[in-house]
Amino acid sequence: MKSGGDGPKRFHLTTFGCQMNEHDSERMKGMLGALGYVEAPSRADADLILFNTCSIRESADSRFIAHLGEAKRLKGEDPEVVVGVGGCWAQSVKDEVFERYPFVDVAFGPGQIHGLAEFLASDSLTAQGYFGLEGFAGHLPAHRERPFQAWVQVSQGCNCVCSYCIVPSTRGREASRPAPELIAEVGELARDGVREVTLLGQNVNSYGRDLRGADRRSFAELLREIDAIEGIERIRYTSPHPKDMKEDVARAHAECPAVCEHIHLPLQSGSSSVLKAMRRTYDRSRYLDRVALIREHVPDAALTTDIIVGFPGETEADFEATLEVVDEVGYDGAFTFIFSPRRGTEAATLDGTVPHPVKRERMGRLVELVQRRARERAQRFVGRTVEVLVEGPSRTDPSRLRGRARHNKTVNFDGTAGPGDLVEVEITDATSQTLLGHEVLLSRVG
Ligand code: SAH
Ligand code: SF4
Ligand code: F3S
Repeated sequence: MKSGGDGPKRFHLTTFGCQMNEHDSERMKGMLGALGYVEAPSRADADLILFNTCSIRESADSRFIAHLGEAKRLKGEDPEVVVGVGGCWAQSVKDEVFERYPFVDVAFGPGQIHGLAEFLASDSLTAQGYFGLEGFAGHLPAHRERPFQAWVQVSQGCNCVCSYCIVPSTRGREASRPAPELIAEVGELARDGVREVTLLGQNVNSYGRDLRGADRRSFAELLREIDAIEGIERIRYTSPHPKDMKEDVARAHAECPAVCEHIHLPLQSGSSSVLKAMRRTYDRSRYLDRVALIREHVPDAALTTDIIVGFPGETEADFEATLEVVDEVGYDGAFTFIFSPRRGTEAATLDGTVPHPVKRERMGRLVELVQRRARERAQRFVGRTVEVLVEGPSRTDPSRLRGRARHNKTVNFDGTAGPGDLVEVEITDATSQTLLGHEVLLSRVG
């Protein structure tokens, strides 16, 4: 049921894309709550239908466009319904949104929640409005999904020029938030019951380079200051760039009790010539040096990665170089993607398109190796007792609990703890993705 003029207005929000978008959506919900909106259970019940979009690969675009069809139908049935589209897709097509999808009322770039708020608070919701990139929404109240975990956006945008990537054009130039503001925010979160924070940035470990004076910290210094905040038991961050993964960050991992033993270090390709064409600014050996540096300081760290298969010009030998790196590093997990040409990017204009069946075949071999290595790596946890932050019931077996180890592994276990508790779990079995075990009852830490 829609509000029909009485009662609070209802919104429905669908989020696509990365954690940055998830976080923007939390703030959007916080802002809508402040404006008196409540969440509707389905699109058909909503007065305001919102989409927070992603454009990282073609599949992301098409998934969203399919959903947009339902909004069009609902708006056709009830012209009072307001349709809003935010995020990276909206930013990449800008005003064209309204030409291509005339039933859309408002469009806004990533993080432009202020623009949405302004639009909703204005007297007339009739004029179509577009709000572009500007400023930070960092201090907007967020509606957090779990009271004990929070995202903290440390920077926005990206100054890299990875030739395949649409993000620099949708999220703009890199801008860091002043360190004192971030530290105060995390302090407040901790007082509010948050135990785990995930620092977010497109290139999170280049944090602070654009800041001056008292506002400025390096990423490693930021980690240390957040580590010192009472109540914060776990610090995660995503995504770092291998070029900025230096000794100071590895040392912060080793020396700060709250900084988790997990690093997501996107490889993209194991071939130096493909990396060059991708404009990643490191080659295979420099990447492997960074892995060695991490392993020297945090020998047990879990390493995960992102890999793109079928970049233009990728030969069988290039692909085999990727397999070699995957085998050598032994990742604890990897996100693997088939190259998708994106509008406005350099790689979309390169020759040497890899035929689709070849991409599929390479992807199959890559996934098989990634899973085998992850399964092998996971065996090191069997017989160990690991600290788990409990999230809720297990997804596959509700009589068991689910949580996350410091190494970012999902752990399904028998126990009696509640969400937000930190417990010790003895691991009895491990697959490539998850660990299994039981709570060690007497040593509850939380
Ligand atoms: N800023 C982060 C995340 C970028 S997007 C980082 O640099 O790590 C997440 C992943 O999507 C990338 O690491 C890359 O592996 C993949 N990706 C980005 N653009 C892509 C494209 N055009 N085709 C296929 N995969 C892509
Ligand atoms: Fe995209 Fe590269 Fe920036 Fe990551 S570092 S967001 S892959 S341009
Ligand atoms: Fe997608 Fe934008 Fe994130 S393109 S992956 S939502 S930065």
